[in-house]
Amino acid sequence: MSNRRTFAIISHPDAGKTTLTEKLLLQGGAIHLAGEVKARGAARRARSDWMKIEQQRGISVTSSVMTFQKDGIVFNLLDTPGHEDFSEDTYRTLTAVDSAIMVIDAAKGIEPQTRKLFEVCRMRSVPIITFVNKVDREGRSVFETLDEVADALALDVVPMSWPVGMGGVFQGVYDFATRTISRPEGDGREFLGKVEPLTEGAIPDDIAEEMELGEAGYPAFDLEAYRNGDLTPVYFGSALKNFGVEALIDAIARFAPPPRPQPSEQGIIDPERSDVTGFVFKVQANMDPQHRDRIAFMRLVSGTFRRGMKLIPSGLGKPIAVHSPILFFAQDREIADTAEAGDIIGIPNHGTLRVGDTLSERNDVRFTGLPNFAPEILRRVVLKDPTKTKQLRKALDDLSEEGVIQVFYPEIGSQWIVGVVGQLQLDVLVSRLEAEYKVEAMLEASPFDTARWLKGSDAAIKGFEDFNRSNLARDRDGDPVFMARSAWDVGYQQERNPDLVFSATKER
Ligand code: G4P
Repeated sequence: MSNRRTFAIISHPDAGKTTLTEKLLLQGGAIHLAGEVKARGAARRARSDWMKIEQQRGISVTSSVMTFQKDGIVFNLLDTPGHEDFSEDTYRTLTAVDSAIMVIDAAKGIEPQTRKLFEVCRMRSVPIITFVNKVDREGRSVFETLDEVADALALDVVPMSWPVGMGGVFQGVYDFATRTISRPEGDGREFLGKVEPLTEGAIPDDIAEEMELGEAGYPAFDLEAYRNGDLTPVYFGSALKNFGVEALIDAIARFAPPPRPQPSEQGIIDPERSDVTGFVFKVQANMDPQHRDRIAFMRLVSGTFRRGMKLIPSGLGKPIAVHSPILFFAQDREIADTAEAGDIIGIPNHGTLRVGDTLSERNDVRFTGLPNFAPEILRRVVLKDPTKTKQLRKALDDLSEEGVIQVFYPEIGSQWIVGVVGQLQLDVLVSRLEAEYKVEAMLEASPFDTARWLKGSDAAIKGFEDFNRSNLARDRDGDPVFMARSAWDVGYQQERNPDLVFSATKER
C-alpha cells in the first residue's frame, strides 16, 4: 500500500491556511522555524526571477508543492493560491489531490471561497477533513459550526475533538478517541505537549455536558463514507497555538486515501500499474520574454519515475527525456531521482507541455477529467492596433490552450471575450500578450457575467442556437457556449430548455 498522501488545503483568505501550513511542515520536520513559509517564499522569488508579476506584486502566482514526512508517511501538500491570485490553477490543483483539508475560522464559519473550492472537491468526490481554526479566540458555538458545515455543504459531520471553551475561557482541546485533553501552557497559552486524561472536574460542568451531547448527537466516524466524500470528520484547534495540528496529521495519515485510480480514455488507471503515467495540471511560465521556459507540474498516477526517463506527452507523440525534473520540497528545490504515484514533479520545457496533457512511457493512456471551469470574470479584448488581429487570435488560442485564460468567440460580432476565475489571470494575460506576442490590448467590461458549456443532442443545441445567437459563442475547440448575463439567466434558460445541460465545467 502506498505511503503517499497528496492533499490540498481549501479555505477562505485569513482563515489560517498559511499558519496551518507552517505548523504542518514544522511537525513534519520540513522546516525549523515558524514563519519561514512566507520568508522563504520571498527569498525564493528574489533568487529565481520567476514571473515579473510575482515580483512586482509580491505574491505567488502559482501553486507550489511541499513535501514532508512523518512516521513513514510521505505527505505532498499542494498549495491552492487564494487571495488575489485566485485563479483556475487553484481549481485545477484540486484535480491533482486525493483529499483536502477544509480550514474554517471558528468565528466566521463557511465563507464564500471555502464554498467555491468545496464545490470543486465535491464534483470529484474528493474526501474532506474539516479543521475549525482559531478556537483560542471567541467563536461561534460548536454545535452551530457543526450544523453549518452539515447544512451548507450537505455533508454528514462527525466531531473528532471538542474545544474546552473558546477565547478567554479556552482551556484546551479534548480528543474523543484518546479521551485526553491537550492543555495550553505558558504566557502564550500554546500547546507545548501537555496532555491530560479527562478526569472528574478536569473541565467545567457546562462544557462537559456539551461534549457529552456532542459525542452522543452525531454519528460515529465511518471511513467509507468519508472516502466517498459524504462525511467529514471535524477537528477543532488553533494553528497559531499549535492545537489540533498533530491530530490533523494523524488523521491524514490514517484516513486520507492513498493515490487514487484515475479515469482515462482507456479506462481506470490503477496506481499499482508498473509503468509511469501522469498528467499535467498546471504550467508555470516565465514572464521574461527572453526565457520561454516553463515548468509543467505533473501528478504521477502510476509507476516509479526516474531521472532521465523518457516520457511521451499525449499532445506530441514523440518522447521527451526528463533530465532535470524538480521536486518542490519544503526546504528547497531538489533534483528528484525517483518519484512515485501521488508525487508531483516539475518538468522544465519550452512550451511543449500543456495543461491537461498526459505523459506516459508507452503513450497508451490519455487521462480525462481535467476540466475547464466556468469563468467568473469576462472581459472584451480590445486591440490598440487593429492590424494585429491575427497575432491576437494566435495568442488567445495559445494562452487558452496553456490554461492561462479561456477564450470565447461570439457568433455575432467581432469582439472576442476572455474568461478567468480570478483577477490576476487578466494581469498575466495583458503582460504576456505584450511580452511574448507584441500585442497591446485593453480589457473592457463585457455584457456577460459567466458562461456555460452547452451539452445535448445536436438538434437540441441547434434549436437553442437559432433563438439565442446573440448569447452564443464558441470556445477554442469550437464547442458551443452560452454567454449568460447573470446566474439568474442560466437558471432561466435551464428551466426553459430541459433537453440541454448548461454545464459549469468542461472536461478537456
Ligand atoms: P490565510 O493563509 O488563510 O490567509 O491565513 P493566515 O495563516 O495568514 O492567518 C490569518 C491571520 O489569522 C493571521 O493574523 C494569523 O496569525 C491568524 N491566525 C491563524 N491561525 C490562528 C489561530 O489559530 N488563532 C488565532 N488567534 N489567530 C490565528 P494576522 O495578524 O492577520 O497576520 P500576521 O501578521 O500574524 O501574519
